[in-house]
Amino acid sequence: MIEAHDDLHARAWRALMSGEPDVKSAQASQLYDDWQAGRIGVPAASRCPLQAVEDAGRPLRPELIAHTALPRRRPGAPEGHAALLHAIAHIEFNAINLALDGVYRFRGLPAEFYGGWLQVAAEEAYHFGLVSARLGAQGFGYGDFPAHRGLWDMAVKTAHDPLARMALVPRVLEARGLDATPPIVASLRRVGDAETIAVLDIILNDEIGHVALGDCWFRHFCAERGLEPEATYLALMAEFDAPWPPRPLNVEARRKAGFSAGEIARLERGRPRRENQSEP
Ligand SMILES: [Fe+2]
Ligand SMILES: [Fe+2]
Repeated sequence: MIEAHDDLHARAWRALMSGEPDVKSAQASQLYDDWQAGRIGVPAASRCPLQAVEDAGRPLRPELIAHTALPRRRPGAPEGHAALLHAIAHIEFNAINLALDGVYRFRGLPAEFYGGWLQVAAEEAYHFGLVSARLGAQGFGYGDFPAHRGLWDMAVKTAHDPLARMALVPRVLEARGLDATPPIVASLRRVGDAETIAVLDIILNDEIGHVALGDCWFRHFCAERGLEPEATYLALMAEFDAPWPPRPLNVEARRKAGFSAGEIARLERGRPRRENQSEP
C-alpha cells in the first residue's frame, strides 16, 4: 500500500532499507512500474530526510567478510559451482541497493536520471531472481556462503557526489562485471551449465546498458563542471583507490557502454606504478 506522503525518494529509501531480498526486489520493480505509468514523479521538495547509509537493508545471512578471506570459486566441484553462483547473486543484490541509493540520495536532478536508475534497480532485481533460481537448482540459497561488502563500501565513499558515484560505481564496478563475464561463461561451459550461461547472456546485455547510463551521466556532470571526463575519471580512480580492472578487458562491451578506444588502451596498460601497492 503506497502512502500519500511517499514520494520518489521516500520509496527508494524504503526499498533500499528492506532486508528481505524478495520484498526489496518487489519494491524495486513496483517503483519502476509506477514511474513508467506516471504514478510517481520527481517531487519539488521531498519530505524524505537525507541520511548516511552505512549498511543498506540486507538479510542476516550471508555473513560479510573481507574479500581476501573468501575461498576461491571454481565451478569444477558442485560446492565451487554453487559458490560462484552465490557470488554473482550477491553482486546483483548489492546492485539493487546501489541503484536505489542513487535515486534516494541525489536530489534535484533531471527526471531522466531517476527514471534511468529506477530501471536499473528493477533490472538488478530481475537479475538477482534469475541467479537465485540457478543457485536454488544447485540446492543452495542466497546466504548459504560468506560474501564481501566491497560494493557497498564504494556507495558510502561516493555518497557526497553523483559525479564520483557515476565514475566509481557504474564506470568502475559494473564495468568490471563486463570484463568478468566471458571467463565465467567459459568456466560454466566446461561444466555444461547452459542454463546459467543463458542467464549471464541476459545480464551482460543489461549491464552494458547500466554502464552506458553511468557513462552518460558521468559525462553530463563533467560537462556541467567544465571537467575533461577521461582525465577526471583517472583522477577519481586514484583518489578513491578504485580497483583497476584486471586484463583482459571486455573491449567490445566497454566500447558499447561508452568507453573510448583511448581510455580502454589506458586501462589495459595497468595502474600507474606508484599506486600498485594497494591493488588486491
Ligand atoms: Fe545486474
Ligand atoms: Fe548493473
